This record gives sequence, structure tokens and C-alpha cells, in this order.
Amino acid sequence: MNKKELINSGKVKSVFTTDNDDEVIIEFRDDMTAGDGVRKEVMSNKGSYNAVISSKIFKVLEENGVQTQFLDLPKPNMMLAKKLEMIPIEVIIRNIATGSLVRNYPIEDGTKLNPPIVQMDYKNDEYHDPMLNDSIIKALGIATQEEIDILTQKALEINEVLSGLFADVGIILVDFKVEFGKDKDGNIVLGDEISPDGCRLWDSETLEMLDKELFRKGKDSEVMDAYIEVYNRIVPDDEKVI
Ligand code: C5P
Repeated sequence: MNKKELINSGKVKSVFTTDNDDEVIIEFRDDMTAGDGVRKEVMSNKGSYNAVISSKIFKVLEENGVQTQFLDLPKPNMMLAKKLEMIPIEVIIRNIATGSLVRNYPIEDGTKLNPPIVQMDYKNDEYHDPMLNDSIIKALGIATQEEIDILTQKALEINEVLSGLFADVGIILVDFKVEFGKDKDGNIVLGDEISPDGCRLWDSETLEMLDKELFRKGKDSEVMDAYIEVYNRIVPDDEKVI
């Protein structure tokens, strides 16, 4: 499968057309960014770790009945994926209060959230990803109420599957962000990636962070070891390609 034309270059991934109009190649680069891309570093092999972790997670989700855009991993840092028209909403699920939630609301860091919080942010760097609600989403013409309900339900299903997957390897899924798109038949399908870039993952025993929060806090030298730890725990030895 060959890359043809670059169609989108994001902060950490580039998307290319292929010989098949219904498929794209997503290249995971070694860039790491924080603060709307204000801070940027290159981390050796980070793209490959994220692509393999994400592919593994997408495969597990598919096995559990959640449709994803994943098709194949032709190279460690390249995902062959179903082409989607992405919906500019970041759906965030929170199982434990931390991050922007405790900065913006009077809730103590570490509070368990049951049921989990479902939050939707507008994916738009110019406006700094503001939080949405159903009326705003509809006023902006981003999605219909039916689609909002599907996004909510799918994100909660993903949370159930992934909380279990991570718990089995001694990791707490604190919170995470997912993005969805529409395939050529109009089905809403999970897209983008699920990796330590967009999740908060804490070791169940020590509560040490195993995700991008380390980079956000300036602990750059610890970030890749954390990503490799997640990779080693969730990718079985016979599926390891790095
Ligand atoms: O910063 P905040 O607490 O709102 O982040 C919640 C979750 O969503 C975290 O897991 C974070 O990694 C993820 N997130 C993301 N991309 C953003 C904002 C949040 O992946 N633009």
C-alpha cells in the first residue's frame, strides 16, 4: 500500500491518500506537542509506539463490537485506515476528576466519577477547543441530536472495554479523548488514535503517570519510558513490532 498525496498534516500525524479512494494512510510522526502546539519536541520512535498501541486498542474494540477506522499496520508508524469525514468534536470521558475539570470546577483532584463524565469539546485550535453542549453543537451545525446521542453512547462503550483492558494490566484509565468520523455509508466510526497522547493512564499500584501528562509537566526525559511501559503491558509479545 503506497502513500500518494498528503491530505492533512496535524500536530503529530499526517494523512495520505492511497490507491484506494476509500482508504488512507495515517503516519504517526515522532512529534510531541502541548499547549495547543506551543511547545513541541521530537521523541525518538514515539510515532511507532503510538501507532502500535492505537492499533492494538482499535483491534480490541473491534472484537468487542465497536467499529473503528483501523484496517492494518503496514509499518510500525503507519496505519492503513478507512477514510472518514471527521466530526470536529473531541469526546472526553472522565472516570476520575483531574486536569481541566479540577481547574475549572470545584471538585477535588482524584474524585471517582461514577457515572463517568461525558464532555464534548470543539476541535479548533484557533478557539482553543472550547467546551460544547448539545445546543451549541446544533447551532454550529456540527452534529444532529441523534448523532450526539450516538457519540455519547459509543464513547461510553469504549470506556467500558478500555477500562477493563487497562485494568487487566495494572493501569487505571483516568480519562481519555476520542474522535469520530463518518464513513462513506454515513456510519459513525471511531477514528484518529487512542494512545498515551490522549489518555491519562495511572499505574494501579503506584499511581505513577504513564502518559503525555509527564510532558505537559515538563518531565520530558520520563515520557518515552512511560509510553514503552504501556506498549509492553498491552501489546502481547507475538504482536510486538518495535
Ligand atoms: O486537559 P483535560 O483534563 O481536559 O483532558 C482530558 C483528557 O482528554 C486527557 O486524557 C487528555 O489527554 C485528553 N485531551 C486530548 N486532547 C485535547 C484535550 C484533552 O487528548 N485537545
